[in-house]
Formats: sequence, structure tokens, C-alpha cells
Amino acid sequence: MPNRNQKIHDALGDRCLVFVGMMGSGKTAIGRLVAAAIGIPFYDSDQEIVTAANMDIPEIFERHGEGYFRAGEERVIQRLLSEGPSVISLGGGAFLSEATRAAIEDRGMSIWLKADLDLLMSRVMRRPGTRPLLKTADPRATMAALMETREPVYGKADIHVPSSSISKNHTRDAALAAIAEQLGIVEPDGDEDGQ
Ligand code: S3P
Repeated sequence: MPNRNQKIHDALGDRCLVFVGMMGSGKTAIGRLVAAAIGIPFYDSDQEIVTAANMDIPEIFERHGEGYFRAGEERVIQRLLSEGPSVISLGGGAFLSEATRAAIEDRGMSIWLKADLDLLMSRVMRRPGTRPLLKTADPRATMAALMETREPVYGKADIHVPSSSISKNHTRDAALAAIAEQLGIVEPDGDEDGQ
């Protein structure tokens, strides 16, 4: 493992790295890559809820409503945070919960993966029907409205990382560099790649 990633691993202790941001920002893909780089487990809060409920997310929303989903989401995240260290990718609405933000502040570090509307839409349109909040007459307008209300909250995250349209590895490396900086890990000269 590159030296810098080993240092991140050691400095984290039992805390968690928590990816937040809009649907389609790449939280799951990047979270998984960051976890592999550091050598700690990866969890996706949506996947944990789906496994526990034995239903997919549209079905949970349809049968039980959003409030039920949000309550389950809070519980799952509290549990994952108490079982660190790990990388956890949250569903897009999870960081809106004050209780969840407080728990993350206590037990981890939050990373906002930031992407513009075009990039988000191009990604969510690859899997239509999987996000109940976008089942509207105009999903793009819905996404824009959600961004407007949510971005100030995502802005409270410890770290902000642009979600690159270039490649996943590019975003992973930007996230690792920002995490190292936040943890006070100084890279020696000529060691930009953390090798
Ligand atoms: C949601 C985002 C989804 C999922 C649910 C609600 C949201 O997760 O939790 O559909 O409120 O933005 P992703 O951000 O992984 O798509």
C-alpha cells in the first residue's frame, strides 16, 4: 500500500470516512475505491437498508413512505459509524438529518462529492426508475431544486471534492489527497503520488 494511504489508515483509527452528496455524484463507486486503497471495509447505506428490509428502495418508498425509509437510514448509519473503521457512502438525503451529521462529526469525517447538474443527470439517467424522488414529470427540474436546498447542507462536510467526469481513479486520488491533508498528513517533496 502506498505510504500515504497507510498513514491515512493509521491516522483514522476506528473512525469512518463518510461520502455525502447528490444522487449520481459517484459516492458508491468512489467510496469503494477509497476503501480499497486504504484497506478498510466499505459500506453503502442504501444497500444496508435494502438488505435489512429485503426490498429495493422504490418498493420501500412505495409501501412504507419516505419517513419510514429515513428512519431506517438513520439507524443503519448510526450502526455503521459505531463499527468503524470503514468507508460509508450515504444515500443523497441522509446528510440532511441533523442527528446523522452529529454522529458523523463524532465518529468520522465527511466528504462531499460535488458534481454539476449535467453530470448528475447523465449518471442517474443510466438507471432510470431506481430513484423514487426523481419519478416526477421533470426529473431535471426536480434534481435542480433538490440541489438548491441540499447543497448548503452538503457544504457543512469536512472536505469538498469535485466528482470528476474524467475518471473514477482521478476522483479517488483527489479524495485521498484531500483526506490526507485533513488528517494533517504531510507528503514529503517528490512524493506526490504517495508512493
Ligand atoms: C435519495 C438518494 C438515493 C436513495 C433514495 C433517496 C435522496 O441514494 O437513498 O433514493 O434522497 O437523494 P443515492 O444518492 O445513492 O442515489
